[in-house]
Amino acid sequence: MKITIIGTGYVGLVAGTCFADFGMDVTCIDNNTQKIESLKRGIIPIYEPGLEELVNKNYNAGTLKFSTDTSHLNEADILIIAVGTPAGKDGNADLSSIYSVINDIIAHVKTNKFILIKSTVPIGTAAILRQTLQDKCKNLKFDIISNPEFLRQGSAVRDFLEPDRIIIGSQSKDAKEIACKLYGPLILKDIPILFTDNNSAEIIKYAANTYLAMRVAFINEISDISEKLAGDIDDIAHGLGLDKRISKHFLHPSPGYGGSCFPKDTLALSKVASEANANCLIINAVIESNIQRKLRMAEKIIDTFNGNIRGKQISILGLTFKAETNDLRDSASIDIINELIKHGARIKAYDPKGMSEARKIFGTKIEYCKDSYDAASNCEALCILTEWAEFKTLELDKLNALMLNPTIIDLRNIFSPNEIMKAGFNYISLGRTDIIMDNECRNYQKLKVS
Ligand code: UGA
Repeated sequence: MKITIIGTGYVGLVAGTCFADFGMDVTCIDNNTQKIESLKRGIIPIYEPGLEELVNKNYNAGTLKFSTDTSHLNEADILIIAVGTPAGKDGNADLSSIYSVINDIIAHVKTNKFILIKSTVPIGTAAILRQTLQDKCKNLKFDIISNPEFLRQGSAVRDFLEPDRIIIGSQSKDAKEIACKLYGPLILKDIPILFTDNNSAEIIKYAANTYLAMRVAFINEISDISEKLAGDIDDIAHGLGLDKRISKHFLHPSPGYGGSCFPKDTLALSKVASEANANCLIINAVIESNIQRKLRMAEKIIDTFNGNIRGKQISILGLTFKAETNDLRDSASIDIINELIKHGARIKAYDPKGMSEARKIFGTKIEYCKDSYDAASNCEALCILTEWAEFKTLELDKLNALMLNPTIIDLRNIFSPNEIMKAGFNYISLGRTDIIMDNECRNYQKLKVS
């Protein structure tokens, strides 16, 4: 099967590479010439475990090609749209890239086509695109298939190859048949495939991200309750997750969810819901709770210094919105760092993969460090904002010796209070009681730093 994917970002590149690995003939198109030239030279524009090897394997085998030339659109049996749909100024998804692809299709496509939409698009988009194409290309038949993608950054290849389900929204039998061919290798592995209409498929995507975002916002609120009432959030999340109806996933407290999907998709769902006069009280509460969460986390750091961080050297470990990605889009680190700077702190930071993206965001406002120890040196508090594995194995004695004041503010709960206690740190984490040393560094009290 000949596939052309338009949009070679996270979703397009991973999907294209995996379809090529299934043995299909794939061309990935993007209007970013630099990106396409880099990919041809084996340079992957994003950090994603396992992707580079798979891209190069299939590119060298000739099943995966890269191009900026939209005339390839006519050659394919199936066109897959995977361009970005970022949040527009009004909170609605910005569909300009989708419409630009539709214009390319109108200009170049001369035969009937299946068009599969992987981009996250507002409910009703497939129907609008179908109508637009019908109006503009009266002699051609276009089957529009809504096929939302559920892969996560950091585990994208595995998620694509082992999804929980495949969702196919369409109107025709032919569309179902081609979708079954496309996903044949996964259907053979017993991955469930659900056929539905286009609108429902589009709603499933938004509802899935919003539900997961809601779980994160919920556990963050439970974490605050636990902290105020001397509970232990790890035990609480474990106790909740053992209930099969709840499950253990997405119950890890954090400084707030971020990334290119949850913030934009919750907002877009709220927008379309309000426009349709549908109730969306929970969705709006999730959005608001997460905005406040990030500011509350900055306050938590400031509280550690009794409300005054002017001139204090604060170090940040982890800038990306989660581990195993170089992406900082809507990362909690952005709001937290900006708030700390506003209150007069001096910020040093280190992230294993996110430094070059961080430079684009923070510019000269912060100091960039070569590793965690460099960041810790002479700081008065070390804040962990992303759960990178390498932070969990830091040599705590070495860290302690480098810091002016041995205080760790762990906003991902990567350490256990016991190990931190043994290493002589003040330790502030989420949803647990703070551990603070006495002046002789012999005893610990459950107090705030004074
Ligand atoms: C999310 C969804 O999980 C994917 O299914 C979906 O395909 C993708 O959006 C998308 O729409 O493209 P992703 O943005 O890569 O994937 O990241 P997640 O792993 O979902 O994490 C999102 C945010 O929630 C991160 O900031 C993460 O740190 C936070 N999170 C997640 C928590 O704070 N606690 C948790 O327990 C889980």
